[in-house]
Amino acid sequence: MTKPTRREFLENSLFAAAAAAMVGGNASRAARADEAAEADKQSTSPSERLRVAVVGVRGRGTEHVGKFTGRKDTEVVAICDVDGYFAYKNGLLAVENATGKRPAIYQDIRKLLEDKSIDVISIATPNHWHALAAIWAIQAGKDVYVEKPVSHNVSEGRRIVDAARNHKKICQTGTQSRSSVGTRELMQFIHSGGIGDVKLARGLCYKSRPSIGPKLDYFRPLVGSRLDYAVPESVNYDLWCGPAPVKPVTRRQFHYDWHWQWDYGNGDLGNQGIHQMDLARWGLQVSDLGQGVLSYGGRVGYEDSGETANTQVSIHDYGDKTLVFEVRGLPTEGYKGAHVGVVFHGSQGYAVMGSYEGGAVFDGDGNLVKKFDQGGDHFANFVKAVRSRDINDLHADIEQGHLSSALCHLANVSYRLGEMVPAGEVQKRLESGTCKDECVETFDRVKQHFVANKINPDSVRLQFGAALTIDGKAETFTGAGSDKANPMLTREYRKGFEVPASKDLV
Ligand SMILES: NC(=O)c1ccc[n+]([C@@H]2O[C@H](COP(=O)([O-])OP(=O)(O)OC[C@H]3O[C@@H](n4cnc5c(N)ncnc54)[C@H](O)[C@@H]3O)[C@@H](O)[C@H]2O)c1
Repeated sequence: MTKPTRREFLENSLFAAAAAAMVGGNASRAARADEAAEADKQSTSPSERLRVAVVGVRGRGTEHVGKFTGRKDTEVVAICDVDGYFAYKNGLLAVENATGKRPAIYQDIRKLLEDKSIDVISIATPNHWHALAAIWAIQAGKDVYVEKPVSHNVSEGRRIVDAARNHKKICQTGTQSRSSVGTRELMQFIHSGGIGDVKLARGLCYKSRPSIGPKLDYFRPLVGSRLDYAVPESVNYDLWCGPAPVKPVTRRQFHYDWHWQWDYGNGDLGNQGIHQMDLARWGLQVSDLGQGVLSYGGRVGYEDSGETANTQVSIHDYGDKTLVFEVRGLPTEGYKGAHVGVVFHGSQGYAVMGSYEGGAVFDGDGNLVKKFDQGGDHFANFVKAVRSRDINDLHADIEQGHLSSALCHLANVSYRLGEMVPAGEVQKRLESGTCKDECVETFDRVKQHFVANKINPDSVRLQFGAALTIDGKAETFTGAGSDKANPMLTREYRKGFEVPASKDLV
């Protein structure tokens, strides 16, 4: 590990202390106070209770179940999961334990959507299903809460926006930090000039991600296909794949680790990173897809069946503003005290936003100026908008979710169109490119990060992505490389699972 300077040490300690205070005391107390205040407004009248179905209940979906069963004005009446084991254990039993009532159970969302009595569909499936599930639900007349990233590729997100607008449905994105009072207040502070002009935001997703297990391809010539990883018996694999091609399973852990395979996931940029990408874009006050993107990185430190980068730097060009996003999946020290967060660099100081609730502001010398640390309830915000029928009540309307998800996808398109080059060549290209000084500085820190993990940067080869120009309003690539990049704004859909085109969503 490189030794931090005294200044970095102080900044790290200050932020760590601020973060500890938030987690330990104020934030949770404040969040509880918020939820209590919200609970007071909940109607207990059965006729006003919203009837909710949760789709996908293994990991995140259990939070959805907990939030909707925890309210007096919502009722979880149905669970849908293609894995019968989790539908029963995390769905049926959890709802029954919480409420004394058994929900209906489905494997196929299309059957669930035939139930006209359901008002809300809350989606926590893998990413490749988000857009199709959300659009089908909207077309069936439901309001939707859809997890982040809202899409698996750029055009899917826009299609959900079009569906929601055309059918006049409420659609909330699962970026819950948008409902944290501390985050909202800190954004307001930044936007009103609290740290001066902000031209640079650094998104950070520093989260250790170990190997997900070997590729069986190495052994297949010896033992044939017997070594394919098994699909759990309780899973309907045809439905699990849905819009994605049906292929042999190449990961040891069937659930969750799809995040690291392109057919279903979007790497950590589209997993944890989308939360911070969203905050970075919000803080910079940019509401299109920018003018250009460049992304480089690799799956460094181990060889496994994952395909996405575990080390990735993406640069989004917004003319006079820049958004630099760093993913680090190997163990690392933080940047200005944050591992998962966003640092906004202003002309009169900087702000460090934590992972979900608020953050802290520092002056140019690194002295703590102010903390923002109150939580909030994103599901309560969704319910409020469902009742008011006003999308302006939503803290994370689907269009915000689409734009931020799309930034992750654009960076991945650049990355995937890249070529493998030695780290020295990355350095040369960054130095001679149009990218500003911060891009070279970021790469210097990436090299130090490799050294800290006992990896010689001179021996590393990285995928240097295509530098792509974007028409940020039209949401397409233009110019050199666009012939290859534009087809990657969508995908080939499996028959029966096509995400409808915008023109068909009226
Ligand atoms: N907002 C947050 O903080 C947060 C946190 C974690 C995960 N997430 C998001 O939630 C989603 C789910 O993540 P996870 O960790 O729970 O994944 P997971 O793989 O552990 O669980 C997904 C579940 O969905 C089920 N499923 C798959 N296809 C389905 C379909 N067509 N219909 C019904 N069920 C289906 C699977 O069987 C599984 O039970 C992801 O998109 C992830 O990005 C959000």
